[in-house]
Amino acid sequence: KKALILVGGYGTRLRPLTLSRPKPLVEFANKPIVLHQVESLVEAGVTEVILAVSYRAEQMELELTEEAKKLGINILFSHETEPLGTAGPIALARDILLQSSKPFFVLNSDIICDFPFKELYNFHTAHGKEGTIVVTRVEEPSKYGVVVYDKDNCIGNFVEKPQEFISNKINAGLYVLNPSVLKRIELRPTSIEKEVFPSMTADGQLYAFELQGFWMDVGQPKDFLTGMCLYLQHLRTTNSNKLFKAPGIVGNVLTDPTAKIGSNCQIGPNVTIGPGVVIEDGVCIKRSTILRNATIGSNSWLESCIIGWRCSVGKWVRLEGITVLGEDVIVKDETYINGGQVLPHKHITTSVTKPQIIM
Ligand code: GDD
Ligand code: MG
Repeated sequence: KKALILVGGYGTRLRPLTLSRPKPLVEFANKPIVLHQVESLVEAGVTEVILAVSYRAEQMELELTEEAKKLGINILFSHETEPLGTAGPIALARDILLQSSKPFFVLNSDIICDFPFKELYNFHTAHGKEGTIVVTRVEEPSKYGVVVYDKDNCIGNFVEKPQEFISNKINAGLYVLNPSVLKRIELRPTSIEKEVFPSMTADGQLYAFELQGFWMDVGQPKDFLTGMCLYLQHLRTTNSNKLFKAPGIVGNVLTDPTAKIGSNCQIGPNVTIGPGVVIEDGVCIKRSTILRNATIGSNSWLESCIIGWRCSVGKWVRLEGITVLGEDVIVKDETYINGGQVLPHKHITTSVTKPQIIM
């Protein structure tokens, strides 16, 4: 079985992190987002993954070729010379996809859930139509693709980012498509959501598979942190031995074994700590992600933050309100940042009390 993952796009909503690494390589729960997907695909019997890249291809090739070897699968890179949107890349990979007459998976690369690839594939082959998309229910449907379907799960209407409320069932960004769908897609920048799905629904060829359990598009900081909480809770119920247990650790916390945590800290609930991270004594961290090789100085207090790679946060610092530090940011002792998005390599020496981008 084959899968195509859409790993292009600039990931602007996840800046400043995506100024240093392409969105699919940003670590979510200590693993690049796209690896969560690739590993689940492999479990469902996928042996060939096509990564549709439009930008920062070299970094992805380098890191993911390594992973492919470990997983014993084939990862192919399909390069766009101009961004082809969410459908164009499928046309670009046409020759590879048509090597087999079997349906293939297509995935957005910023989705986290308990990937149901086996069940999805079985559901798809059972109804026999051209395509199946995974759907989930959300509170705020306007930032997604919204679907309406009948009692047999046949989709009658697909509207991308609707202005008015239609339904709270949305496109979860995971599809199975028959090779025949290629007839509907031209090799030019096209949106699968705005052009291909509406034509399929008009022909009664698109079905909805309802997702069980949690789901989140982690392509922006607020949702990244919410997704992290949901993911850790899911780990608690399925694989609780992966969570960290020690004095001072509260609730669901994931730490890399190479991270160092000082004494008298309170870490958690809902924290992930990457490899090489150093947390000094007396630190309190809640609902945050600390990426590889960052340092948090003693007695600092962090809530709802993403701390970028190799950042150095001083002592007695307070960070909150969805503060995101880009790679290699230095925060001076005793500084306060509330909702700051700090660009890579900055040195912060005065407090920032209102949410803003710090360049
Ligand atoms: N190769 C390639 N080329 N990939 C692209 C391009 C491109 O030009 N543009 C976007 N992508 C990739 C992104 O990396 C992402 O994985 C995926 O296509 C979707 O793009 P987003 O920018 O994340 O779209 P969205 O989140 O606003 O909406 C999409 O996802 C929602 C679910 O999270 C849509 O599919 C919605 O219908 C859906 O509900
Ligand atoms: Mg997205």
